[in-house]
This record gives sequence, structure tokens and C-alpha cells, in this order.
Amino acid sequence: MLKAREAVHSVPQIPQLTSGRSGICLDLNENTSGCSPRVLAKLHSLTAADISLYPERAAAEAVLAEHFGVHPEQLLLTNGMDEAIVLLFSAFLGAGDEALYPVPTFPMYPICARAAGASIIQVPSDRDFRYPAAALRAAITGRTRVIAIATPNNPTGALAPRKELVALLEAAPDAAVFVDEAYFEFCGETMLSELPRFPNLFVGRTFSKAYGLAALRIGCLIGRAEHMDAVRRLAPPFNMNGIALACLKEALADQDFVSSYVISVKRERARLEAAFSKYGIRTWPSHGNFVLADLGKWHAEFTAELAKDGIYVRDRGAEPACAGCVRITIGTAAEMDRFYAALPGALQRTGWHVTV
Ligand SMILES: Cc1ncc(COP(=O)(O)O)c(C=O)c1O
Repeated sequence: MLKAREAVHSVPQIPQLTSGRSGICLDLNENTSGCSPRVLAKLHSLTAADISLYPERAAAEAVLAEHFGVHPEQLLLTNGMDEAIVLLFSAFLGAGDEALYPVPTFPMYPICARAAGASIIQVPSDRDFRYPAAALRAAITGRTRVIAIATPNNPTGALAPRKELVALLEAAPDAAVFVDEAYFEFCGETMLSELPRFPNLFVGRTFSKAYGLAALRIGCLIGRAEHMDAVRRLAPPFNMNGIALACLKEALADQDFVSSYVISVKRERARLEAAFSKYGIRTWPSHGNFVLADLGKWHAEFTAELAKDGIYVRDRGAEPACAGCVRITIGTAAEMDRFYAALPGALQRTGWHVTV
């Protein structure tokens, strides 16, 4: 009888993330204000030939490498950063190896580690969601081949301090240390400058968040040329679609769009934290375009009640070390006003004691 590989059966199933969303989407950390008008203009200018020919990745890779100040051999464009994670994990992990990462974090790490046949070693953060530096280093073994750190972390918004990341890179010379900088634009902290010093460092970036291009699927992986050569061998030759490649340069050129979105996120994030605190709901300091809130035993009902009002947030309350937590993406001021209008009613219906 036909059966998938043993490892495939241990892969956690990805829940349906988007299903007929037609309202205010505060659930997937997208830029809900849209994308740069320069990208839209480029899309409108595309011709039939732009669609009918296979896409060429190299020119866009050179542009992006220059933007990051690295050599093109060090950078691979990927179909969203998701694909970068798939490729990196499959290049460095095999049966019997270990993938190490703190939890809670981005759910693609266990999926890709399990798919490669590796074991997963999850180090829980404390309830302040601080980066568990010492516990992570203590969990490194002779079998650790990939270590993944999202900073700012999704879903907590916490930053991993640079000196701790350096200590991790020093402590695990035989592991690929993947620093996932999906939310870099909101904090400005990057490990890219450490690439010359650490051959085991890889950095991931995406255009799905601050640039507002989630549907185009543009991400990248940056590392030492010799290791990126190994990763590139696994990438399908036409992994990037031509429409995304055509838009990349325009997106990069419009840094004003990115900065004005980041400013609005910071303003609205403070407003959201204040709104939750008014109801006695704990949130954690976030360096991303989202906030994690502690809804306790009401996390699932709260999420469902808001959905009835056409407002989608992400229930992360059943994940390891994340009990009771719901993640809310920062929307536009108008979207957040709708959220504040719905909040007391949703809390009341779930049984939260609304005092204000
Ligand atoms: C921490 C983190 N890494 C990677 C990704 C993947 O992004 P992309 O849309 O580029 O695949 C996300 C998306 O939510 C994320 O939160």
C-alpha cells in the first residue's frame, strides 16, 4: 500500500489560516494599509510577455543583495520566507539530527524540522516571554544542526538581545543558526553585520510584512556563500514568480511607504496596549506589527466572538508556552477604531468581567 515517509506523519498539521476572511484582518500580521503605489503601477504595466516567459531570479537577487550590502552569492530569493525555512532546514537537517528553538514561536520551524526527519527540541520562555538565552545554550547537543530564533519573535514581539545571539553563534559552531528577521523594519535590529564573523549564521527577511506584499510571496535567505550554495541546490529553478520579481525593485525604491507604515504601527500599537490595559488584560511589549494579549481561559471564545463582528484575530492560546494568548495585528487607525468599538461587547459575551 502506498504510504508517505514515516517522518511526514510526525509533521504537525497546519490549520487553515485563511478561510473566507471578509472583514478586518488582524490575524496574519499583514500590512492592512496595502502596498506601495509604485508596486501597483508596476503591476498595471505588465505585458503578456511578462507572464508567458519563465522568470529570471538573478537580476532581482543582485538588486536585493546590493540593498543588504552582501554579495549576490550570499543571497537566495525565495517564495516567501516560508520557502527559505523549508530549504534551510532540508539542507542542514536529517534523520537523527535536532532542531532547537524557543517557544512560543513561528510554527513553520517544527513543520520543517519534522519533515526532514529530525527531532525538535523546544525551550519554553518564561511568562515574561524573555529570550531564554541560557536554557537555549544548555540545550545544544552534538546533534543540534539547526537553531531558529525569530527576533522580534512571533507571537510575543520580544527581541533576542544581540549579545545573546552572538553567544549562541559561538556556542554552536556546527549548527546553522537561523535568525528570522521577518519583522526587522519595526525594530531596526539586524544580525547581517555579523555574517563575516560567523560562518554558521543565516538571516531571513520577507516582503510580506512592512512592505505589504504578502500575496506576492517574496522572501530571502542570506548566509555565507559556501553554505548558500548548498541551499541553492535545493531551490527549484523557478521558485519565484515573475510578477513578484518585477515588483521587487519598485518596492525597495519606496522606503517612504515602509517608514510611514512603521510610524503608524508604533502609534497604533501604543493605543492598543492602552486599550487592553483599561480592561485589565495583560499585553507584552512588542517590537513587531502585532500585540499578544492574555485572554486566559477565554482565548478561543474571544477570538470567535470578534469574528462574529467581522474582526479576525489569531488565537495562539493552545500552543506550547503560550496558554491563553491571542495575537492582534496592528491595523489602520480606522480598523483599530472598529476593533475598540467591538472589544467591550466581545469581552462581555465571553464572560470577561468588563469594569470600564
Ligand atoms: C517570524 C516569521 N517568519 C517567517 C514568516 C514567513 O513570512 P512569508 O510570508 O515571507 O513566508 C512569518 C510570517 O508570518 C513570520 O511571522
